[in-house]
Amino acid sequence: MNNEMIIEDTKEMVRYKLLNEGSGHDWYHIERVWKTAVTLAEKENADCFVVELSALLHDLIDDKLVSNKDEAVEEVRYWLDSAGVSSSDGEKILEIIENISFKGGNNKKLHSIEAQVVQDADRLDAIGAIGIARCFAYAGSKGSPIFDPEVSVRETMTEEEYRKGKSSAVHHFYEKLFKLKDLMNTKAAREIAEERHRFMEDYLAAFFKEWEGK
Ligand code: ADP
Ligand code: NI
Repeated sequence: MNNEMIIEDTKEMVRYKLLNEGSGHDWYHIERVWKTAVTLAEKENADCFVVELSALLHDLIDDKLVSNKDEAVEEVRYWLDSAGVSSSDGEKILEIIENISFKGGNNKKLHSIEAQVVQDADRLDAIGAIGIARCFAYAGSKGSPIFDPEVSVRETMTEEEYRKGKSSAVHHFYEKLFKLKDLMNTKAAREIAEERHRFMEDYLAAFFKEWEGK
């Protein structure tokens, strides 16, 4: 198979798997990350083939989506092998998606430009107009309120506190969304992030004004 066919087949496989996913990692999240990653890859001169496949596959081994991560990694490895992806590209792709999905305070800088681009594209989808929508959708799916004025807005809320419903969608802006702009790896992503960041600030300013009945 040529590269274009490999990407097309991978796209169809991922689309089928995630079409009805309900936790904010649905197919359209992947499609946006894929498109954004291509835009960034072109600007940053990254290897487009590795970037595209990594973007398409990046959530298939997320432990929020799969019960057995090792098995999921093996499935992706098998998929790439069978599609005829070279083992050197395959290893690069697996390393990228493993690093990106790794959570828990792991903020180490990714070394390859391909990994940086895919991580930036994933993070860009968490901010701006789409990011706001995903944030409220996620909070709704966990039974959290849109905002809770009884809880102070601070930056130290743990995942555990969120899960216990001690938080709100608006708190998540301070916990994570407003921090993402400064975590972008590439210049191209930082520029996009700055615009989306401002949009979120304007959005919350309007939100709090309305909250006060003004
Ligand atoms: P990623 O896309 O990096 O895997 P997550 O799985 O952490 O991100 O989150 C998926 C989406 O849900 C993101 O848009 C994120 O901002 C949002 N989200 C995650 N945790 C919360 C939360 N506690 N409250 C509101 N939104 C959240
Ligand atoms: Ni993602």
